[in-house]
Amino acid sequence: HYKAIILVGGPSRATRFRPLSLDVPKPLFPVAGAPVVSHHLAALSKVQGLQEVLIIGFFEDNVFARFLDEAASEFPHLHIRYLREYQSLGTAGGLYHFRDEILRGNPQQFFVMHVDIACAFPLNEMMDAHMKHRGLCTMLGTKVPREQANKFGCLVANPGTNEVLHYVEKPETFISDLISCGVYLFDTAVFDEMKKAIDRKKDVHHEESDYLWTASDDRLRLEQDLLRPLSESRKLYVYVTEKPWRQIKTAGSAIAANATYLEQQAKENPDRLTKKSPNGPEIIGAVYIHPSAQVDPSAKIGPNVSIGPRVHVGKGVRIKDAIILDSVQIGTASCILHSVIGWNSKIGSWARVEGSPITDHNIAMMENGVKSQSITILGKEVTVMDETIIRNCIVLPHKELKSSFHSEILM
Ligand code: GTP
Repeated sequence: HYKAIILVGGPSRATRFRPLSLDVPKPLFPVAGAPVVSHHLAALSKVQGLQEVLIIGFFEDNVFARFLDEAASEFPHLHIRYLREYQSLGTAGGLYHFRDEILRGNPQQFFVMHVDIACAFPLNEMMDAHMKHRGLCTMLGTKVPREQANKFGCLVANPGTNEVLHYVEKPETFISDLISCGVYLFDTAVFDEMKKAIDRKKDVHHEESDYLWTASDDRLRLEQDLLRPLSESRKLYVYVTEKPWRQIKTAGSAIAANATYLEQQAKENPDRLTKKSPNGPEIIGAVYIHPSAQVDPSAKIGPNVSIGPRVHVGKGVRIKDAIILDSVQIGTASCILHSVIGWNSKIGSWARVEGSPITDHNIAMMENGVKSQSITILGKEVTVMDETIIRNCIVLPHKELKSSFHSEILM
């Protein structure tokens, strides 16, 4: 049988996800109407022989308590637990720390997934690929545009065998447009390699300095400390996918992740999405509207829109490329484009909240050498008065906007 580990990080990490992460940890932020991490669980629930999922991070235990209850009823055949690191242990330190839990019951292999991605998760295909070689790890890879590649872990693979020949995390110069997606399938024998990696780190410490062996030395990085040596000893393989893949780093990148999952559901699970109906609003493309939301029939919604519980959308409203979070109210004839609208926010009538379309893989647009915000984000409980225009702004929670703003961070 198989297990899976989802790495969720902790509260100090998601700074680029502000202001949204001020009110909800990134793993629980809703995209396409469900928390980021539940899309991972949905994919894992389709893997035969996989019954146990360990969510590892350094958030307080209570952060995931309610989510775990909900997940238990949504995925009854998965046993899902949260394991807390006593401090940030890096992307492999937690795996090593909890190795007894992972190895309990003698799983054959285990998946490791970064939480901050949106992906079609071709897990069964990875398992097939893993059977065909003698390495310890199959990693999911994808091609990205050449000029963006150095933002990621880059790899060079033998195209015939898929053996990874080089692995470099965020290289300074171009080495490859094939990158790591943050999804791995490991043999349990990899724990021996982790032990070696930890010993190597200890040796370096002893040789180079008089530092005491402190708790922070339990940190281990999956990419640099483990995958790189695995590739050097030819034990690392890649499965390349052409299906959509996105990172969820900045708050604005949630819009692209939303599109990835909505489009996937339009193909695989269309019943979950909102259908056009004679008395309902005009729906364009893939749209998710929570059953408790009220949307006026004269509104026009989509494509790429998720509308959360208890949202109220007034007459003649236009919404496109947007996530509208719980209990938001949008007044008559307002327009919301390329934006995330935070919980309980109130948008007046004839108002406009607007960002710019997102570029590929969410690389921030540069304007005169200055990073310009492409998606407009309103934090929790923001009020936008009638007839104002908010364009390319980040608005912190509880602000009341009485006039129009353009390209500003409103604190
Ligand atoms: P950058 O943030 O640009 O460095 O990108 P990255 O893709 O290299 O991200 P990083 O390696 O920081 O995180 C990858 C995944 O691991 C994310 O899902 C994080 O939440 C998670 N993660 C990062 N650090 C830790 C950690 O110390 N413990 C745990 N459990 N998870 C972590």
